[in-house]
Amino acid sequence: MDDLLARALGGDTSQLVAEQRQALLSRLLSRLAHEVRNPLSSLDVHVQLLEEDLHQLPGGTLPKAAERLEIIRTELKRLDNIVLQFLSLAGPTTVNRQPVQIGEVIDYVCRLFAPEAATRDIELSAHVDAGLPPLEADRAQLTQALVNLVINALQAVERRGRVEVLARRNETPAALVVEVRDSGAGIDPQHAVAMFEPFYTTRDQGTGLGLWIVHQIVSAHGGRVQATNAPAGGAVFTLQLPVPATTL
Ligand SMILES: Nc1ncnc2c1ncn2[C@@H]1O[C@H](COP(=O)(O)OP(=O)(O)OP(=O)(O)O)[C@@H](O)[C@H]1O
Ligand SMILES: [Mg+2]
Repeated sequence: MDDLLARALGGDTSQLVAEQRQALLSRLLSRLAHEVRNPLSSLDVHVQLLEEDLHQLPGGTLPKAAERLEIIRTELKRLDNIVLQFLSLAGPTTVNRQPVQIGEVIDYVCRLFAPEAATRDIELSAHVDAGLPPLEADRAQLTQALVNLVINALQAVERRGRVEVLARRNETPAALVVEVRDSGAGIDPQHAVAMFEPFYTTRDQGTGLGLWIVHQIVSAHGGRVQATNAPAGGAVFTLQLPVPATTL
C-alpha cells in the first residue's frame, strides 16, 4: 500500500500514521473518480448512438441487443453515481436508505455476470429464500458490494466451476444473511485478515480495493462481512445486514 500511495502521490508515505494514510487515500480516490468521469460520459453518448443505429435496422431492433444495451446503460449510470459519490467527498459511508428487496439486487448482479460466467464454464446461480423482508438500504451501494464479491469469486474460480449467491434470514441478531460461495482455491489463511485492508492484493492486476469497499459499505449499513472457507473447499463471503426483528 505504501508503495502504491507513494507512486500515486509522490514521496515516501511509509512514516505516515493511519489517519494521514486515509486522507491520502481519499485524495487518490477523488482524483481517480474525477478522471473516470470523462470516458464514462463519452461511453454514454456512444451507447445512445448505438441504440439509435439499432432502431434503424430493417425489421426493427434485435430484442437481445436491446436488452444488452439496457444493461450497459444501467451500469454506466451506476458507475457515474459511484464516481459522483466519491467526488462529493461523501464517500461510500453516506447511505441513501430506501426499501430494497435483496432478491432483486442478487438477480440483477447475476444477470450482469451471466455472459461472463457462461464463456468461462462457470455455473452462476442465485438462491434466495422466499418472503424475505425488505432492507432499509442503499440499493446502489449494495449492488456495488455484491458486484465486488461476485467478481472476486469468478476470478477465484477462473474456469469451470461454481459461484452461488444465497440470501436467507437470521433470527438472532435479526438480519438478512447474504453469502457468495465459490469453488475456487479458497482463502489462504495468511491473507484472511489483511484482505479487507485497502490496496491488499495477491493478483497482478488487482488494486486491492474491492474487499475494502465491501467492508466500508457493509459497515455503513450497520452490518458485518466475514470470509471463511467451506469444508468442501472454496471461499465463502458472508454479509450480515440488520433488519428490524419485527419484520422477520
Ligand atoms: N473469492 C476469493 N477466493 C480467494 N481469495 C480471495 C477471494 N476474494 C478475494 N480474495 C483475496 O483477497 C484479495 C483482495 O481482494 P480485493 O477484491 O480487495 O482486491 P483484488 O480482487 O485483488 O483487486 P480489485 O478488486 O481491486 O481488482 C485478493 O487479491 C485475493 O487474494
Ligand atoms: Mg476484487
